[in-house]
Amino acid sequence: MKKNSALKETVLALKKEIQEHNFNYYVKDDPIISDSAYDNLMIKLERLEKQYPELITEDSPTQRVGMLSNTAFNQVNHIKPMLSLSNVFHEDELAAFDKRIKTDLGMESVNYAVEPKFDGLAIALIYEDGFFSLGATRGDGFTGEDVTHNLKTIKSIPLKIDTKSLPSRIEIRGEVVMFKENFLALNKKQEELGQKVFANPRNAAAGSLRQLDSSITATRPLRFYAYSIDFEGIENTLSSHSDSIKLLNELKIPTSNLVKNVTDVVGLLDYYHEIIDKRQGLPFDIDGVVYKVDSLNYQDELGFVSRAPRWAVAHKFPAEEAESQILDIDVQVGRTGAITPVARLKPTFVSGVTVTNASLHNEAELLRKDVHINDFVLIRRAGDVVPEVVSVIKSKRPKNIKVFLMPTECPECGSKLKKEEGEAILRCCKGIQCPAQRKQSVMHFASRKAMDIDGLGEKIIDQLLENKMISDFTDLYTLDLASLESLERFGEKSSKNLIESIRKSKETTLGRLIYALGIRGVGEATAKDLAKEFGTISNIKAQTLHSLEGVDDIGPTVSCFIHNYFNDLKNLDLIDKLINNGVTFKEEVRKEVKFVSEVSEKVFVLTGTLPTLKRDEAKQIIDQYGGKVTSTVSKKTDYLLAGNDAGSKLEKAQALGIVVLSENDLIKWTEE
Ligand code: IVH
Repeated sequence: MKKNSALKETVLALKKEIQEHNFNYYVKDDPIISDSAYDNLMIKLERLEKQYPELITEDSPTQRVGMLSNTAFNQVNHIKPMLSLSNVFHEDELAAFDKRIKTDLGMESVNYAVEPKFDGLAIALIYEDGFFSLGATRGDGFTGEDVTHNLKTIKSIPLKIDTKSLPSRIEIRGEVVMFKENFLALNKKQEELGQKVFANPRNAAAGSLRQLDSSITATRPLRFYAYSIDFEGIENTLSSHSDSIKLLNELKIPTSNLVKNVTDVVGLLDYYHEIIDKRQGLPFDIDGVVYKVDSLNYQDELGFVSRAPRWAVAHKFPAEEAESQILDIDVQVGRTGAITPVARLKPTFVSGVTVTNASLHNEAELLRKDVHINDFVLIRRAGDVVPEVVSVIKSKRPKNIKVFLMPTECPECGSKLKKEEGEAILRCCKGIQCPAQRKQSVMHFASRKAMDIDGLGEKIIDQLLENKMISDFTDLYTLDLASLESLERFGEKSSKNLIESIRKSKETTLGRLIYALGIRGVGEATAKDLAKEFGTISNIKAQTLHSLEGVDDIGPTVSCFIHNYFNDLKNLDLIDKLINNGVTFKEEVRKEVKFVSEVSEKVFVLTGTLPTLKRDEAKQIIDQYGGKVTSTVSKKTDYLLAGNDAGSKLEKAQALGIVVLSENDLIKWTEE
């Protein structure tokens, strides 16, 4: 008995010691023992655990590697959506941001927390009772992928944190990155082994995290930097973003050591320039800096717009530019028939990849930039965005330049191209009768955020269309093993795999299905909103232009596209075919909206601290009764729900003659 408890103590002390060394090495960047001394500690622990397996705990450093994910990554629904940041590129946009914050808060001066914008992968870590229990990617912001087994291999992420004084469930968000020098070494190794090389550190980090076998991830040196912590009751414990960073540091979770506090636009710009100067020397890639209103109370007051907080902004660095030459220009037909002129370039290395094509957007842009074949040009590549031609280097203009004229007929189907009124873009209006649009629509349908048909890439789609095995995306569900096996370079195994992924895709959600249809103007977020708001296809079909416009982010143009789509028999036929071919989708549960005339369909703004309700609770009540909460007081506001310390919003509401409510009024109206 005694021996056992002594052993337990030894193992516990070893685990603590190893984690401490991980912290010194990966977070503080200041190891205090040699690599071999560290290895010896690990060997000692492994031996003891082998001998006494009952002493193995889930937070043991030996448990970081070796976990296999079950065939695919499970979906994880984020409790709070993982949002994006709005971007600014220029000083005037930044000044406008600072001004808006001051006006909305009614303040002369604002304190910001500022930090680098990591160019990596957004990740959420969940700790339950102190143990790292779940790690997920951002995914579409609402649903990500469970990559816990791979995140456990990142030694700077503690498997256990000391949360004695904190609640049992904590969510920490941040980015996983790969250091630049590790990325170069990894690519060198990959090349030597004849394996895939990565375009940049972010892709290398993403590829490493999407491994089913965590022992592969363990060989890829990844780092994690946290930028937020969230738990029930946070408002009572922390008052600012800087407090959150301090708490993260106390918990020994890595954060950037470049986090600072500054005041007003002058402070923001100074920081931007300071980081630009440091950028090259940083071990990881960053693509800008992030400015956040420091006070959590003010953050709450400013709220969110669409999918981004109003209290933060990313100041992006200018995209990297390089010189190239246009060898030729041709046009591409997009999924919705848009004709885009594309420059074929002399291969040029920019932002980590060799670029051979760049978009010229449309005819007006081509004329404005005065682009000719053979011109020398500056090209730009920002993140994953398609490279574009920025400008012509006129001083280098060669004698043999040639004018490029936009075609009048679709290069793919020969139909006459049209320009809609007020639009700069030429279009082929043949829809999926045009082979280019047909192919793109199938590619879009199969893509990851749509029906997610793994293994159905462009080359296979080409073959399926050429061999007339499919004529549109609905036919994918009629493919069988024998016909796939007849395709060139398509063996039994790949055919089976593809049939299986097609089968799996049949079970989907309404949001994904709507997105997969490829309706003009309907991106992933809008598709989800439509699904949530209307619940079924037949309900969406029944909507008027006006009611469609009632959905967040849908304006008159997109509502028209949606309305036209669902009023075209050809499209309804496609949907019927999908359903007849076995596609099923979870109909999003329509929220049960209760009605009281005082709240339903009214626009509310909240300000100040309410006596009993938390801000989220008040919002929930208003939402439940079909009211809407916005963050700025305007003529459209029906009520201002004001608590203690209401600031400028109260003054503005009074000036506009808007009814000011107390929490009690809201409770009375909604009491059953
Ligand atoms: S704060 C509400 N801080 O940028 C969103 N995000 O567009 C709050 N990112 O993928 C995010 N560095 O993961 C924040 N220092 C930083 C960041 C950062 C990188 C990423 C984030 C997300 C994207 C948001």
